[in-house]
Amino acid sequence: MALLQRTFSIIKPDATKRNLTGSIIKKFEDGGLRIVASKRVRLSREKAEGFYAVHSERPFFNELVEFMISEPVVLQVLEGENAVSINREIMGATNPDDAAEGTIRKEFALDIGENSVHGSDSLENANIEIKYFFKEDEIVG
Ligand code: CMP
Repeated sequence: MALLQRTFSIIKPDATKRNLTGSIIKKFEDGGLRIVASKRVRLSREKAEGFYAVHSERPFFNELVEFMISEPVVLQVLEGENAVSINREIMGATNPDDAAEGTIRKEFALDIGENSVHGSDSLENANIEIKYFFKEDEIVG
């Protein structure tokens, strides 16, 4: 059944640096998602570490945090029917080598770390991640 959902997205430093923000947003919109909140920010180390706290024991954690604070990012809330899973389809697999043709990561990602976008992996995490970065009055549907 189709459900109107909101999910959370980050356009990552490798993509903002290469001026790919518009190309990536076009993929979301062409895929049926609506941008209902958006802000370009430079993440603080504290904010990035908190966001990725679940990965803090992983060997790539420090590299991930350094990368995420290295250039601006674009934080967005995407709305649409089944937005969580649709966004994951539009993004493609985490590792661009495994990503399907036409996906953001297949077209734009550099490697598994510099993979151009983050997207929530569940509706529960989407709600947590949206609240981590946005106030309710910053989201305009
Ligand atoms: P993201 O969806 O933002 O969530 C966690 C991130 O960790 C993931 O995307 C990747 O960018 C990153 N990541 C996962 N595996 C590796 C890895 N082996 N080396 C570096 N970064 C990784």
